[in-house]
Amino acid sequence: MTRGTSRGGGPPGALLGACDPDDLPDGLVVADALGRVVCFNAAACRIARTTPEEALGAPLERALPLEDLTGRRWWSVTDPYGGLATRTGQPERNLLLPGNREVLVAARYIRERPLGPVGKVVVTLRGTEARRRTERSHAELIATVAHELRSPLTSVKGFTATLLAKWERFTDDQKRLMLETVDADAGRVTRLIAELLDISRIDSGRLEVRRQPVDIAAAVGRHIRAHSSCGQSPDRFVARIRRPLPELWADPDKIDQVLGNLLENAVRHGEGTVTIDIAPADGAGGGEDADDGKGTAVTVSDEGPGIPEESMARVFTRFWRGSKRGGTGLGLYIVKGIVEAHGGAITVGRAPSGGAQFRFTLPVGTPPGLL
Ligand SMILES: Nc1ncnc2c1ncn2[C@@H]1O[C@H](COP(=O)(O)OP(=O)(O)OP(=O)(O)O)[C@@H](O)[C@H]1O
Ligand SMILES: [Mg+2]
Repeated sequence: MTRGTSRGGGPPGALLGACDPDDLPDGLVVADALGRVVCFNAAACRIARTTPEEALGAPLERALPLEDLTGRRWWSVTDPYGGLATRTGQPERNLLLPGNREVLVAARYIRERPLGPVGKVVVTLRGTEARRRTERSHAELIATVAHELRSPLTSVKGFTATLLAKWERFTDDQKRLMLETVDADAGRVTRLIAELLDISRIDSGRLEVRRQPVDIAAAVGRHIRAHSSCGQSPDRFVARIRRPLPELWADPDKIDQVLGNLLENAVRHGEGTVTIDIAPADGAGGGEDADDGKGTAVTVSDEGPGIPEESMARVFTRFWRGSKRGGTGLGLYIVKGIVEAHGGAITVGRAPSGGAQFRFTLPVGTPPGLL
């Protein structure tokens, strides 16, 4: 591809300073006072599926045969060189290229003097795939959320309706059992909504990190005790701490969420002993905030089936779940979002004993005012 595919309108460098039109991410098409194409950059060639040789010098309507969504020829409809002399261009809109390919088009009419004839028409083109992909992923998200909410809510509705209709006919034990199910399902809905709120904060970059000194070894100890008091054997967990650990400034609640999710996964999806290693790390995270290159690394390993090699790339995506024992598949997506919001990084691999191994690193994270 030739660079700066322009002709007749002076070198593109003169048009755009140091920038070559071929470097633009969007398609750029410029036509002269006669409606002949003088610039058709690389992105425009890709979007319109043409070559600079074919496009340059051709009439605008031939080089870029756009139609609106009702099939009318756009250049005839908009008539950039005729029409009112006050017109300055066309706002961005969805148009079609041959083969019904959608493209976002905006145009600007350049006049040498106000109300004078149009000397140049500048058109930008943008593919719609990226936008369509986001739209599709939003639609899928809504469908999945609706599905996830429906089953616990159906049960809540069913049991409460039954209890209200036939309260006298049930024994106390039966009523208690139903209310316990309602309670558990309502808990599930509440948790799911809290997770969805976290996700929307992560996706929009609004996850707030309130940093304060965190003793991560103590936090791991608390989680192990909590699991033990819920019936897990304390022998199931081994915490190995390599001291001295560097300072850690992080959001304690969010770090608890990360540890909680990883340990719960190791217990629920893994098997055998769960080993938690806490050690100083070099160049923690690799994130931009990895201030002085020091930080803390936490590795959670188990002895279960592990994550199949081909699924490792997907475990951190939302709603991905591998086993029947899975929950909603949001845990690791949130974990990754929290770790990254701290300027850290998380990876998944295989533990020496064959199970899953999750390792996350956090930079020291001293708040700027305290450096
Ligand atoms: N330690 C592990 N061993 C084996 N598989 C795991 C392990 N941790 C996670 N996985 C797999 O990764 C999937 C995604 O985990 P994630 O924590 O995101 O969701 P979940 O545990 O299914 O649901 P949630 O955490 O939202 O309640 C799990 O469904 C499971 O198949
Ligand atoms: Mg989980």
